Amino acid sequence: PLDEAERERPRLGRAAPVRVRVPAKINLHLRVGDLRPDGFHELSTVYHAVSLYDEITARSGDTLTLTMEGEGAGHLPLDESNLAIRAARLLAEHTGRPPYARLHLRKNIPIAGGLAGGSADAAAALVACDALWNTGLTRDHLADIAAEIGSDVPFLVLGGTALGTGRGERVSPVLAPGHTWHWVLAFADDGLSTPEVYAEIDRRRANGIADAVAGEADMLLAALRQRDPEILAATLVNDLQAPALALRPELMRTLMAADDVDALAGVISGSGPTCVFLAADSRHAAAIAASLERSGVCRSTATVTGPVAGARVV
Ligand code: C5P
Repeated sequence: PLDEAERERPRLGRAAPVRVRVPAKINLHLRVGDLRPDGFHELSTVYHAVSLYDEITARSGDTLTLTMEGEGAGHLPLDESNLAIRAARLLAEHTGRPPYARLHLRKNIPIAGGLAGGSADAAAALVACDALWNTGLTRDHLADIAAEIGSDVPFLVLGGTALGTGRGERVSPVLAPGHTWHWVLAFADDGLSTPEVYAEIDRRRANGIADAVAGEADMLLAALRQRDPEILAATLVNDLQAPALALRPELMRTLMAADDVDALAGVISGSGPTCVFLAADSRHAAAIAASLERSGVCRSTATVTGPVAGARVV
């Protein structure tokens, strides 16, 4: 619900506040290819947007400011290094207008959790400022700007389930029949640094450590079309799982809990440390979450569904 200040009638010449909701992402398939000269890795991934949301409210202002509440507030910088601020500035540059807005971020997505929380906030800021400033960019143009901010940002503008290539920034929707999948997210106490997890995979490869490498996403895409969670369970794969486990061995306990809590599968999301468990339906998901909470192998859990839409004005 809008608070008193938001309910006040917008002053003359001032746009009404815009509220945008943006989901977290998990990776159903993540294959890490070669390290490129630009420092990024060639990726082939299947992104999946799930119903854990951050929210940004954008109001007219005389400067660009950011405030935040919720998960990780007080830990995230609110200056130029914040991806939401960078997104607003970049949109202003691209459209030749001053970057004035008061942004307020309400966070539920954990920071450095492998769920693209920071990228989600950037996507939300883009969509929010586009609406506040009435710049009216096409989704494609927004996606181009999004790609300048981070590899996952274009997907979070798009949402749904999508194939990501390049460094992850080239996204195309996966045409799967309308079906809702049920997941349990298990959050860890501390985050993992994405660059450090990628550096660890490079180190392992340089040292000839033979982690299994994900193949093509074909099996997973076929499983999505079959709408059968038992089949999907067998196709979830993430090349960043081994390096994340190497950096944070205690995550093995969380992943191993999949059997005990009767989940169909467990996998690390992106660069971790969040673990994702697949459930057959919503009741099963609730039971898995309750078992995980009792077992003490994670900080907390969330039951979510996917796919859901990308960053949208609400
Ligand atoms: O694109 P983004 O800024 O989110 O990436 C964060 C970091 O993750 C990069 O600086 C890089 O170290 C690593 N990364 C990578 N290959 C990718 C995506 C990210 O090595 N395809």
